[in-house]
Amino acid sequence: MLARTYCGDFCKTDLRQQVRLNGWVETNRDHGGVIFLDVRDRSGVVQVVAHPDTPEMHALAHSMRQQNVIEVIGEVIPRDADATNPKLATGEIEVKISSLTLLNRAETPPFAIEDDCNTGEQHRLEYRYLDLRRPCMQKNLMLRHKVTHAARNYLDTQHFLDVETPILNKSTPEGARDYLVPSRIYPGSFYALPQSPQLFKQLLMVAGVDRYYQIARCFRDEDLRADRQPEFTQVDLEMSFVTQDEIMGVAEGLIGSMFAAGMDTQIQATFPRITYAEAMDKYGLDRPDVRFGLEHIDVTDLMKSVDFKVFSGPANNGGLVKVIRVPSGNSLLSRKKIDNYTKFVSIYGAKGLAYIKVNDKDDIPDGLQSPIVKNLSEDVLKALLERTGAENGDLLFFGADSKEVVNNALGYLRVELGKDLGLFDAGSNQFVWVVDFPMFEWDDENKRPQALHHPFTAPYPEDLDKLETAPLEMRSQAYDLVWNGTEIGGGSIRIHDSEVQSRVLKALNISDEEANDKFGFLLNALKYGAPPHGGLAFGLDRVLSLMVDAESIRDVIAFPKTQRAADPMSEAPGEVADEQWKELGLRKRRTIQTDD
Ligand code: AMO
Ligand code: AMP
Repeated sequence: MLARTYCGDFCKTDLRQQVRLNGWVETNRDHGGVIFLDVRDRSGVVQVVAHPDTPEMHALAHSMRQQNVIEVIGEVIPRDADATNPKLATGEIEVKISSLTLLNRAETPPFAIEDDCNTGEQHRLEYRYLDLRRPCMQKNLMLRHKVTHAARNYLDTQHFLDVETPILNKSTPEGARDYLVPSRIYPGSFYALPQSPQLFKQLLMVAGVDRYYQIARCFRDEDLRADRQPEFTQVDLEMSFVTQDEIMGVAEGLIGSMFAAGMDTQIQATFPRITYAEAMDKYGLDRPDVRFGLEHIDVTDLMKSVDFKVFSGPANNGGLVKVIRVPSGNSLLSRKKIDNYTKFVSIYGAKGLAYIKVNDKDDIPDGLQSPIVKNLSEDVLKALLERTGAENGDLLFFGADSKEVVNNALGYLRVELGKDLGLFDAGSNQFVWVVDFPMFEWDDENKRPQALHHPFTAPYPEDLDKLETAPLEMRSQAYDLVWNGTEIGGGSIRIHDSEVQSRVLKALNISDEEANDKFGFLLNALKYGAPPHGGLAFGLDRVLSLMVDAESIRDVIAFPKTQRAADPMSEAPGEVADEQWKELGLRKRRTIQTDD
């Protein structure tokens, strides 16, 4: 039997050869008696032709419906010069059918199997197997394969061992809600699905594995957004006897190789670094998009003594007053746009968005157009213009509130302005490491510090003596990698000393009993010769969706869940039989209430 040729794999050198093709009928056209079928498989599409001089094949070709599954045997022939299609890889040839077999029929699909299928995502997810048959989705699946393959190859050259870690676990503290699986053998007990392999990869370091990686599935029951899925994949790694710099170096090599495979481009070998404090100061967000300027300018000190409560209030009470200077903003931003931005920042809790139009910076205050100028003295206005470097024609936006509100509101406003004003080239790629994260943040709800990364992250040794006195001032050896304003990965040096680990857990208000119950096995392991270690994890789905500029992370996952964490195709999550409830020792709440 003739070996199979893939539909997209032809070139002119195959002319006159006999080939066997398998695939799906994409189109069927009758051109004055000659039937043309476009046949597609995952590699691409090729045109096959049936002439009336082979009446049996001609009749069969004529009857072919879209998405029928066929086999074609035929000869590769050149197309007539006026029939070539330069847009198609196989556009200069066609296959003259000598044998055509219908392998399976297809009902009319619920939507067109083409890139521009023009149907809602819910519908596409319901028929995901047809959705995935579309060329753009096939391309995404192939990209995913290429990128993970490159990641594996790279990590192999760096002596990493691929080790699988369990899915049925005790809870891993990554800060999200767990997915729980009831145990039949231990009624009333539950496994937790891993939020990440964090504890196991650290145990592998204690075990002497030295360098571990895994393309690991993680599960987090959190509120979903466009770049989040309840189950997602990490390229996860951990290394022993390393510094932060060495881990970042490996991560840069890893991202570089994934990029070369997926995007066919080389990226810079090392990425710039910015501290968390600097990122918050200049960009308001801990995942700054550094493709453009519009950096925040802190003017809190200038506003302490002004006669305008909106500014002086936050300035004197631990809040912030910040400015974004939009060069030539006067002519670029209409009144309507400014009103829209005011609405936009209110999403982040801002109570307003004061602005000043700088018409003539040498004529203070008359050259400044704004509802707030009357509230600010000439000295303050002068200092403001100097601090912001404002030129005639510029527009200044103000945020005044708590640190959190101002940073968020002006952080997202900056990103929005960057997009609206076309300040960066859509094709440009800027990576930046954010380093020196605070060790803890204040959890206002529970009135206690909580770990910013996770509780196993090591502080800088020189900050350790603040643990019991000023924990919120401590910096951790944690780092995130940010690509064009999206956090694509993060990690840290871990605590390998069991005493330090116990002190950190105490600072987090986690009792010995709770710590032992939750991760006593890790605390114990640290006592048996744990090497210094650290690592990081990339969010594979996020990296891929940025590579293809996907509308949502779901486009790079074969069988994703909706924003409501459901699968419209299999209808998961689903009911289970009463028998299973019983077996698992569970009762429905309604039953319990009736019993009561
Ligand atoms: P972290 O929680 O920062 O770190 O996760 C690492 C990366 O995983 C991706 N990610 C997600 N992607 C899709 N959907 C989600 N719901 C989701 N949540 C996270 C992000 C993120 O940067 N164990 C640590 C890593 C370490 O310290 O080594 C961890 O899981 O791209
Ligand atoms: P008002 O004095 O409330 O009329 O506000 C004057 C200007 O300040 C308006 O342009 C408001 O949008 C703006 N504004 C009000 N509150 C804030 C705030 N917290 N931060 C920045 N601008 C504000």
